[in-house]
Amino acid sequence: MSGDYPHIPVMLDECIEYLNIRPQGTYLDCTLGGGGHSSAIMSRLCEGGMLISTDLDEEAIAAARPRVEAASKGGGFLALHGNFHDAPMLLHEADIEGIDGALMDLGVSSRQFDDADRGFSYRADAPLDMRMDRSQGRTAADILNTYSEAELTRVLRDWGEESWAVRIAKFIVEKRPVETTGQLTAIIDAAIPEKVRRKDTSHPARRTFQALRIEVNDELAPLEKAVRDITAMLRPGGRIVVMAFHSLEDRIIKNTFRDMADPCTCPKSFPVCVCGKKPIVRIITRKPVTAGAAELAANPRARSAVLRAAEKLGEDA
Ligand SMILES: C[S@@+](CC[C@H](N)C(=O)[O-])C[C@H]1O[C@@H](n2cnc3c(N)ncnc32)[C@H](O)[C@@H]1O
Repeated sequence: MSGDYPHIPVMLDECIEYLNIRPQGTYLDCTLGGGGHSSAIMSRLCEGGMLISTDLDEEAIAAARPRVEAASKGGGFLALHGNFHDAPMLLHEADIEGIDGALMDLGVSSRQFDDADRGFSYRADAPLDMRMDRSQGRTAADILNTYSEAELTRVLRDWGEESWAVRIAKFIVEKRPVETTGQLTAIIDAAIPEKVRRKDTSHPARRTFQALRIEVNDELAPLEKAVRDITAMLRPGGRIVVMAFHSLEDRIIKNTFRDMADPCTCPKSFPVCVCGKKPIVRIITRKPVTAGAAELAANPRARSAVLRAAEKLGEDA
């Protein structure tokens, strides 16, 4: 699908403020998407500065690259097709030794969501794809048509927090093959009793679609390691800023930051630390940061966003 689908960057001012950009620093935008955040970072870099942006989605990179390049005030830009879970390898291959800041704006972009034939949305009938990287991997249809009923239940329960997981999985298995978003939505409607559906404040398909998207793109299991790996590449004083869009994602970020800020495993009763585990970061956002009223009114996607930021400590911290 061609055309320009705007993705309004969420909490742009807050992201830039927490990144605390040095004009000659090296920055990593893990999730290039429509390039909104990357362009804002780019415009704050001068000669000697560098931005590396990654995305799983080649179409997103092709669309965002000229926009980010146009924002340059002399800084260099490198757009890499790849998974930020592999950030150390991607940066090593690009001869980047260390970074001064990293941004993660997790999940899918409005462009991906609104592109009906990507299959992310239950609002349009389309093939059940849901891959951010269309060059590889299993589609949502592959998962729905090959997983056992028990595996499907696990996916819907763990990644969608769906209380009707058992029944939806049973209905999916009975109705297979399931190829389109329309078919899946009809199955969910049939599996959840009408009086429950009527009370549901969100769309009854929302949790199942979230669960499938997470499973297709393996979004959660490697997230903690990715945050730790990216933090390891930060220079002292460098910051990692992460925006999560649902509670499962945010819990991982919160716990990983907390553990990196206070890794000591000694019992509280010990007068001094003997485990030797030293803090790697200090958490800058005491409370999770959310979008302000004006942004919430202008951009519905900002509603579920939760921002957390941490700063890398020096060796002798
Ligand atoms: C919410 S959008 C980012 C929007 C962007 N900040 C902007 O201002 O337009 C998330 C993007 O990250 C990409 N993405 C998600 N998970 C990824 C991963 N593990 N590695 C690389 N890119 C990923 C998606 O393909 C999507 O384009």
